Order: sequence, then C-alpha cells, then structure tokens
Amino acid sequence: MAFRTIIEPFRIHSVAPLRMTTPQQRHEAIATAGYNLFNLHANDVLIDLLTDSGTGAMSRDQWAAIQHGDESYAGSPSFEIFRDAVQTLFPFKHVIPTHQGRAAEKIIFTALGGKGKIVPSNTHFDTTRANVEYSGAEAVDLVIAEGRDPSTLHPFKGNMDVAALDAFLTEHRGQVPVVFSTITNNSGGGQPVSLQNLRDTRDVCRKHGVPLFLDACRFAENAWFIREREPGQQDREVADIVREMASLADGMTMSAKKDPMGNIGGWLALNDDTLAEQCRNLLILTEGFPTYGGLAGRDLEALAQGMKEVVDHDYLRYRIRSTAYLGDALTKSGIPVVQPIGGHAVYLDARALLPHIPPLQYPGQALAVALYEAGGVRGCEIGTVMFGRHPDGSETPAALDLVRLAIPRRTYTQSHIDYVIEVCQQVAEKSDDLRGYRIAYEPAQLRHFTARFEPLTG
Ligand code: F0G
Repeated sequence: MAFRTIIEPFRIHSVAPLRMTTPQQRHEAIATAGYNLFNLHANDVLIDLLTDSGTGAMSRDQWAAIQHGDESYAGSPSFEIFRDAVQTLFPFKHVIPTHQGRAAEKIIFTALGGKGKIVPSNTHFDTTRANVEYSGAEAVDLVIAEGRDPSTLHPFKGNMDVAALDAFLTEHRGQVPVVFSTITNNSGGGQPVSLQNLRDTRDVCRKHGVPLFLDACRFAENAWFIREREPGQQDREVADIVREMASLADGMTMSAKKDPMGNIGGWLALNDDTLAEQCRNLLILTEGFPTYGGLAGRDLEALAQGMKEVVDHDYLRYRIRSTAYLGDALTKSGIPVVQPIGGHAVYLDARALLPHIPPLQYPGQALAVALYEAGGVRGCEIGTVMFGRHPDGSETPAALDLVRLAIPRRTYTQSHIDYVIEVCQQVAEKSDDLRGYRIAYEPAQLRHFTARFEPLTG
C-alpha cells in the first residue's frame, strides 16, 4: 500500500448517538449491574466492544434488500435469494435457516449428540460446548499447542491438532458422531485455521468415517488470513478460498450475526439427505417452516446481500488491519495481548497483566470492569468466569483469562479506537490497584451471562 493510514472503505450513511457518562455514573451503573457487564444498560456504555455479533452496521444495499423481503409463510422468494447466496459460498445441498448460530447448534446436536457421545473441535465456542453438553454428550478441544499459549507467534493458531484428533478417533471409535472446526477460532483469540489444516482434518475424519462440520461464523476473516499467510494463496479470490473450505466439510453451522453482516440470523447446511430431513423436522418444532426458519423474509434478504459484501477484498483488508491497529498499539504500550492479533477482536491477557489476582478471583472480570469504569468501554471476559464451572459442579481455572475487545463491523471509526487505546493505557498504568471478585450468584449453565459479582477488598 502506498499510504500507512487505514481508511474505512465506506462513508457514514446514518448515525446513532453515543451518550457520554461520568466516572461516578459508571461506578454506580456497574455496581447496580452486579459487576456483570452483560447487565449494563447499553445507554450507559460509550464504546461497546462486548461482541461483534449482530452489532455491525448494515449497508445501504442491505437496507434496500430489507424492503425487498417477502413474508410468505411458505415458499418465500426471499428464501431462494438467501439459499442461493449461501450456496454460492458454501455449496452444501441442504440450507436450513435458523434465527442464530446456537439454534443451528441445538438442532444438530439434538440429532447427533446424546449420552456417551463425544464431539471434538479445535475449540468449541461457549454456546457450542453448552449445546453439546446439554444433549448429554461431551465436548473436547484439540487445538494445537501454540493455540493455547497467548504469546507464541504462529500464523494459524486456530489449527486442529490433527495427530491428537487421529489418536482420539482411534481411542473413541464409534463414540464420535461429528468433528467440528471453528473458523476463526473465537475462544482461542480469533485465530485462523489454514486450508492445509482443514485438508488434514478432513483426511483424518474420512479415515475414521466421521463427518466434519465447520462452525463458520467468521469464514471471510479466516479466508483473508489464508490469502495473506498461507503459501500459494496470495492471488486467490476470498470467495474462492471460502468455497474450498466448504468443499472440505460435510456441513456447517453458522451465526449470520458475524461475517454475513446481519443483526440476526444463522443457518445449518449439510449434504446428508437423511440427517437434513431429521434437522428440518426439529427446525419445524423449534424455529419455523424450512423456508424461513427463525427469520423474517427481510432478514434473509439482508443476509444474502451481506454475504456479497463481506468477501470484498477492500472491506477485508480494512477489517483485519483495523483490528491489528488496536492490538499493535496496545502491544507497543506494553499491554499483554494474544499474539498474533486475530480477525474480529483483540484479547487482553488479564492473567499476565494482573498476576496478583488468582484465576479463581477472576482477573478477566476485574480488568473488564476496570475498562468500563475508566472509560465506558465494554469488553467481555473470556476466561474462568466463562469456562471455569463444570457440569459436575466443580470449578477450575480456565486455560486462559482474557478480556476480549470485539470490534463490531463497520461501526466505529479510527478515533473511537484511539480513545479505546487511551482507556486501556490508563487502566494498565494502575493495574496494581485492581482487586479480584467473588461470585455472589450464578445460574446452572452459561453463568457469565447472568452471574452477579462482589468486589474483594484488601
Ligand atoms: N460459534 C462461534 C464461533 C461464535 O462466536 C458464536 C457466537 C456462536 C457459534 C453462536 O452464534 O450467537 O448467533 O447463537 N459468538 C458471539 C460472540 C456471541 O460474542 O462471540 P449465535
């Protein structure tokens, strides 16, 4: 590139106000929220980096597509537009729309899971793991060793440990109904999976007669990393790389709230006719008729348009560079972040920044609350709060204690991100003063969404 400045490859078409708050207001708001950032009122948040899921800005053409939506209960032409857009990138035989990714997970694991079954993945996302476990099955993570170390540099830290998978499938013959690969690996730092790793995973799955599914939420970001980092891929169209990723799998689950640029949506796609019929019957039970699933016709059309926009190279270059811009600035300030910088988010290493707070006093939660109190920036703990409690009731430290700053697509400008950098720097300078938390209330599952915390003193 001739110039260093990354520019947003769009101009702003419609704006929404941000409400400024004082430190005192934030101090009160977070206490009322039980120190859980999910409990905050969004109006009390200045820069919302809780998630990149459903929080992006839709384009002019997506809003136009919304007007084109057809709301027929059965046989809507909007479904055909949606299905064709999905199959252009992911040529699976059956496309089953759902209201979001976890609905697709619930359906597939209801069909394939159950007691005595085990589902390996590079790393399961929390809802995926919870849906596997809810079916009675066990969820196992087999990411490469580099993927578990926040500071190791590796171009494809999301890769499956293929040798471990091979051994696992030999040891648990007959118990594994499906293998998942999450692209990009969200819980491991938004790290990509290489094409070669997908090919090798597919070969091992073939050898053992087990289907391979993609959890493909951030497929375009993953494909961009492949184009940039994998030998021989530099001249390819991202859409073409995506089709090759799809060709290596037997099916996929999707949260269309990520790369398809939707505010809501998802799908399940697969080739197997019998399994597809079983899934459609479950869909009718819980989501809706197969030509709309859990969505309105207008949502299906917005997603079809979003899928065209997300594989645009100018968009992806900006997207990946602007995430790295935040990560690189924090690294330069000496703040430990997961390396290399992932696609949709920067992950602060709270355990490294706050060594005086033991994992069972939730350093990630302490850091996330501090970022909110200091500057109204809302991130998300991905650590012991999220993963520490097990189905048998025990609690252990998660592999990592991270705070994810997820970047909504096309939503914040570079000056918003410069502000976030300043807030992080200020909190890091006073990190010795931060204290841990105890959990005052937690539900039986997915505790991070609704738990309430109390700050520890002393
Ligand atoms: N798989 C991955 C890798 C995800 O990141 C998510 C959602 C899902 C599945 C579930 O999709 O939310 O549409 O039901 N991730 C969001 C996040 C919530 O903030 O990372 P969903």
